[in-house]
Amino acid sequence: MAEVNFHEYDSRVDLDICLAREVGAALEIAIAERGHASLAVSGGRTPVGMFQQLRQMRLQWDKVWITLVDDRWVPPSHTDSNELLVREHLLKYHVEAAHFVSLHTGAASAEAAVAEIEARLQAIPQPFDVLILGMGEDGHTASLFPCASELEIAAAPDSTQSVVAVNPSTAPYARISLTLAAIAQARKLVVHLTGTKKRQIFEQALANTSQRLPIARVLDAARGPKHVYWAE
Ligand code: 6PG
Repeated sequence: MAEVNFHEYDSRVDLDICLAREVGAALEIAIAERGHASLAVSGGRTPVGMFQQLRQMRLQWDKVWITLVDDRWVPPSHTDSNELLVREHLLKYHVEAAHFVSLHTGAASAEAAVAEIEARLQAIPQPFDVLILGMGEDGHTASLFPCASELEIAAAPDSTQSVVAVNPSTAPYARISLTLAAIAQARKLVVHLTGTKKRQIFEQALANTSQRLPIARVLDAARGPKHVYWAE
């Protein structure tokens, strides 16, 4: 597995500011090189401060596509919706001009939802220029959980599927998630962590050669540079 670049900060505010700057710089380079940029972000509590820093940055946001790495199978107005989180904290001010692609569909079945979102993602320049992951204390990332089936985590190894419907037994809600393969294609893969406990879990996951938790499997498969941003 290629080297993981570990970036440690004295405070979560410093982390949020510096990570937002790194994301902004990567998006600007993508726009300069290809005329557009794409960003996939995770939900959860960790990224909120970074979103609030990123939304103040003066980029050509009208040339940026943004989507979620995963979302819970709830209405986008639900308090546990990752879409609500990014609309409240990221898709504001300068970022209002960006093209946001929702993972929410009105589909009645997982198969129909996956097909609809696969089609939507075709409109986003891929591979993602920046893809930001969080991690749960069980080593899950995106909605790829240790309890998930192999098909849920990686989809069929030879599949070109970018999206998978997941129904984790250890987490609330069914979910829609990018597949391991889609995540691994990112040009810049970022893992955003805070707290000593998560750092220990992350380091143990990477060191454990007998059981590869989803966070380790994603980093094993990543094709681009991998960066971990951490503060206590
Ligand atoms: C989700 C996220 C998930 C998240 C981790 C960490 O939908 O829950 O995509 O993968 O990144 O659970 O969440 P916290 O940042 O809240 O600890």
